[in-house]
Amino acid sequence: DLPARVRIHEVGARDGLQNEKTVVPTEAKAEFIHRLADAGLTTIEATSFVHPKWVPQLADAERLFPLLDDLREVDLPVLVPNERGLDRALALGARRIAVFGSATESFAKANLNRTVDESLAMFEPVVARAKSGEGGEVHVRGYLSMCFGDPWEGPVPLAQVVRVCRALLDLGCDELSLGDTIGVATPGHVGQLLAALNEAGVPTSRIGVHFHDTYGQALANSFAALQHGVTTFDASAGGLGGCPYAKSATGNLATEDLVWMLHGLGIDTGVDLDRLTATSGWMASVLGRPSPSRTVRALSHK
Ligand code: HMG
Ligand code: MG
Repeated sequence: DLPARVRIHEVGARDGLQNEKTVVPTEAKAEFIHRLADAGLTTIEATSFVHPKWVPQLADAERLFPLLDDLREVDLPVLVPNERGLDRALALGARRIAVFGSATESFAKANLNRTVDESLAMFEPVVARAKSGEGGEVHVRGYLSMCFGDPWEGPVPLAQVVRVCRALLDLGCDELSLGDTIGVATPGHVGQLLAALNEAGVPTSRIGVHFHDTYGQALANSFAALQHGVTTFDASAGGLGGCPYAKSATGNLATEDLVWMLHGLGIDTGVDLDRLTATSGWMASVLGRPSPSRTVRALSHK
């Protein structure tokens, strides 16, 4: 049985824009996020409080976040790698944060300059402080990258992924997001990982999926996850995105492609597809290149 409604976790403003060559002006980012909210998205990842040298595209987080103060009905999670990032996010009133670990040693090193276990140690005080109620309790998402394949290490064993998922939950993360950072997963593999997590006692209700579309599998993988009971789906408007520290990563699953499929299945998303497509068309003009989303292209040519 498919669910009547799912939650879309929109990552275009963060995962999307962090990997675009063009650095989008802060005001345009704020307009983008407002337009995403107008299109009915209710969880919009806004930016990252990481080292500005590592991700220059998001170096304006301090200026951007206050421009979103009027979006009271919308959840605006932000990425936070360490306590320095948490301090910055809390100072601006962030209510939702995400730490981001890796299932593989190679990517942990490339993305966080740490081993897998050193990164978990770095997250520990972040999650503890977020959950301790310092200034009110903060919701914590735990991303896990390279859940299916890694550009340096190849296919990633299920047990390795399960171990780090368990560790993130044990730290106190409220939800997980399983990242296919380089887009190599296929639907059978998705089913196997979800089954392995289920067997390890990880409730499916706490699992989100985060597919990149490098091999054109992101939508099929999302459908596989849907059939396995997942109800939280990450996607980026217009298919923006990638990851600057994983060269073979291209854009995320386009939100429009996901919404087209879900609405066709009779599943409610709360998203107005015409407004969303218009927003992605506008962002494509800001970036000076067309959206790779098939649905955006089809609806723009109607
Ligand atoms: P490091 O060089 O090991 O940092 O980087 P450090 O802890 O040694 O500190 C060095 C200096 O950086 C210090 O300054 C710190 O204060 C400063 P100094 O004392 O030398 O003047 N610093 C900071 N400044 C501002 N904000 C901070 C911060 N932290 C330290 N938060 C670090 C470690 C984690 C900081 C670095 O590796 C980093 O910023 N990495 C972020 C990488 C990133 O954002 N990647 C993209 C997001 S992950 C992704 O896209 C995957 C995902 O989409 C899921 C999927 O697809 O799989 C989520
Ligand atoms: Mg990603």
